[in-house]
Amino acid sequence: MEKASDITEVLKARIDPDRVPRHIAIIMDGNGRWAERQGEHRVVGHANGVRSVREALVACREIGVEHLTLYAFSTENWNRPKAEVDALMDLLVKTVIGELEELNANGVRLHTIGDTASLPESCRATLLDAIAATAKNDRITITLALSYSSRWELVRAAQRIATDVKEGRLDPAAITDETFAAHLATAGMPDPELLIRTSGEQRISNFLLWQIAYAELWFTPVLWPDFRKDHLFQAVLDYQGRERRFGLISEQVTPA
Ligand code: FPP
Repeated sequence: MEKASDITEVLKARIDPDRVPRHIAIIMDGNGRWAERQGEHRVVGHANGVRSVREALVACREIGVEHLTLYAFSTENWNRPKAEVDALMDLLVKTVIGELEELNANGVRLHTIGDTASLPESCRATLLDAIAATAKNDRITITLALSYSSRWELVRAAQRIATDVKEGRLDPAAITDETFAAHLATAGMPDPELLIRTSGEQRISNFLLWQIAYAELWFTPVLWPDFRKDHLFQAVLDYQGRERRFGLISEQVTPA
C-alpha cells in the first residue's frame, strides 16, 4: 500500500507546471467541529489548524503558486464568544512570531487585507513588524484576510471612488473594472483562479466576491485541521481538468 507521503508526491508529479494557478484562496472551515469531535474546546481546533496553514503554504510554494490568500478572521467572527476571539488573536500573534524565521528562509512575503485597524494593538504591531520583515521576499505572498468581509471592502471602494470623483480626480464616465479593482484591498494582486473551502459547506461567506468572478470553486468535506498538502494538490489537479471558458464557447477557448 502507498504511504501518504508517496501519494502526495504522485499527485504533485501529475500537476502541469505550465497551468498552475497564480493565486489560490482558501476558506479555512471546520476547526470548531474538528475540536468538538475530539471532545475538545473549539480553540484546540484553531491551534491544530496552524499545521494546515503551513501545509497549504508549503504545497503552494512547491508548485509555484504566487499568492495564497487565507480567510483567517471575518468581520462576522467578532461576534463569537470573547474567549474564542481572544484565543484566535493570541494564536495569530504567536504563530506569526513563531513562523517568521521560516517565512524568511523560504522567500515568503506576509500581507494582510481587511480592517486591521480594528485588531488588538499587540496583534497589529506584530503583523506590521512581520510584514516589514518579509517585504523583500518574492517567492510567494501569503495574504491573511483579517477582520475582512467582501461587503466591507466593496463599500470602502465605493467610498474611495466617490471621494475621488468629488475631489475632481476621477471622471465617473472613466470608471472601469480596473478602476474598481484598484480601489479594493487586493489592488495589485491577480484574481484567484481557484477557491477552496473545507468542511463540506458550499458557500462563499462574504469572501473576495469581486475577485472570484471567474474562479473555479473546489469544496472538500475535510475539516481544516485535517487539510494536508495532498488535498491542495488534488484541488489543483481538479482545477487543471476543468475548461475555463470566461463566457466564451468551448471551441473559442480550445481551437481545433
Ligand atoms: C473556521 O473554523 C476557522 C476560523 C474562523 C479561524 C482560522 C484560524 C486558524 C486556522 C488559525 C490561525 C491562522 C493563522 C493564519 C495563523 P470554524 O471555527 O468556523 O469551524 P466550525 O465551522 O466547525 O465551527
